[in-house]
Amino acid sequence: VLCWFYIFPGYRLPADKEIVDEVLRQGEAWQKNQTGIDLYRKLLTECCDPPRMFAVTKQNSPLGKVMWYDGEFYHSHTVNNETYPLFVQENPLQLPLKKCAVVGNGGILRGSKCGKDIDRADFIMRCNLPPLSKEYLEDVGTKTHLVTANPSIIENRFQNLLWSRKHFVDSMKVYGTSYIYMPAFSMSPGTNPSLRAYYALADASANLTMLFANPEFLRSVGKFWKARNVHAKRLSTGLFMVSLALALCKEVTVYGFWPFAIDLDEQPVSHHYYDNILPYKWFHTMPEEFVQLWHLHKSGTLRMRVGRCP
Ligand code: CDP
Repeated sequence: VLCWFYIFPGYRLPADKEIVDEVLRQGEAWQKNQTGIDLYRKLLTECCDPPRMFAVTKQNSPLGKVMWYDGEFYHSHTVNNETYPLFVQENPLQLPLKKCAVVGNGGILRGSKCGKDIDRADFIMRCNLPPLSKEYLEDVGTKTHLVTANPSIIENRFQNLLWSRKHFVDSMKVYGTSYIYMPAFSMSPGTNPSLRAYYALADASANLTMLFANPEFLRSVGKFWKARNVHAKRLSTGLFMVSLALALCKEVTVYGFWPFAIDLDEQPVSHHYYDNILPYKWFHTMPEEFVQLWHLHKSGTLRMRVGRCP
């Protein structure tokens, strides 16, 4: 069993067992707190202007605009005649979104029977093109409105789209007509795979709409959480999505955020609901992120589902 006695200045991260005890102590009790919801929407709007900035648009990234990559130093892309036409005109989402579900990929979802609950949301966000095959549907639901895709997935799972694009286009069908949100301008090796993914979908007249994550937005959200005890080099995809949801939605419920080795019954739990491959980096930040999300749960600003759904 992994232990989480990581020492931060003046701050000790609780061990898995302590987290379990704390969650059980809190129980099912949860009450929505409109003041907390309004406060976080205001704070996030002030720092990061999500409605205008979350995606790269023609409006916020005109021809000639220099976009600085947020995942590395001194790398930029100047918007040109090749890239500008790939951007959506402006934020395509109808705001505010009502009930949002942010679905992380934690193993805690396995056997949760949260699928129906998730599918009842008005807007469902998922991370990293997760599997939605039959065996998982009862636990994770069927619908998706926005799904993130890391360029590394294009490389690893789809041979960088240098060979057949059919497998990729077919695999995207489970996400219906959703937006696919790619950090194309975060790390330089990620740009070309992201542009190839755009063309693969466009050429196949796929139902999905590509949105490129705006590096300026990602950087500002990173700073926002850095000021709130998340010391990671880079936030997890899930926390970016929760931040987006807090700014755009009237109500947020999160599922599948549980970066611990044991579940609420103290039984071992896998890292993902579909495998147990641990991330080689950024892993240590997720428990820190969890602590912050748990504060938001307790204050009624968002709701976290960590056990089975009713
Ligand atoms: O790419 P990354 O490792 O950040 O994400 P992932 O493993 O595909 O999972 C999506 C998101 O779910 C993560 O970014 C975390 O925010 C969350 N997650 C979690 O809280 N606990 C887990 N055991 C696994 C994922």
